[in-house]
Amino acid sequence: MLKMKDILDEKDPKLRMISEEVIFPLTKEDLKNIDLMEEYLINSQIEERAEKYDLRPGMGLSAVQIGVLKRYIVIVDDTEEGFESYIVINPKIISTSQEMIYVESGEGCLSINRECEGIVPRHARVTVEGYNIDGEKIQIRAREELAIAFQHEIDHLNGKLFIDRIDPKNPYNHMNEYRPI
Ligand code: NI
Repeated sequence: MLKMKDILDEKDPKLRMISEEVIFPLTKEDLKNIDLMEEYLINSQIEERAEKYDLRPGMGLSAVQIGVLKRYIVIVDDTEEGFESYIVINPKIISTSQEMIYVESGEGCLSINRECEGIVPRHARVTVEGYNIDGEKIQIRAREELAIAFQHEIDHLNGKLFIDRIDPKNPYNHMNEYRPI
């Protein structure tokens, strides 16, 4: 089981590196990592488990955050029908909406353990293409919070953190042009 200590902190230089494309079939280790990432995200979103295991709640993880420089991500969306998991290998954003949004309460990241001022502009809708664990091509259309999660996790694969998208001189720059969610 993954714990907070297993997730790299922003100071770790690995988080600044570009992750490599995955070649199929996935290794046993990658499958295990994906299971662990999904398990962490689910547990972290269930209050009593998060408390018991001291987990910060999170919606997504990229492999690099557990020290593996490979292009795969896991997102767990808490929907009315229950938890919905998205596991995407070699994910790519193939189209984006013009409309931009931002998380009003501030975007979060399991690798950033401090408060960050400012807004992170994101596309309100994205289409993501990639592969499932069996190597079959998949396409996902995401909107709102889920769309932000995909943009955030794919940024990680390119060595980018959400804080890089905040203008340091003016953290609330252009905020009126974007829709808060
Ligand atoms: Ni993150």
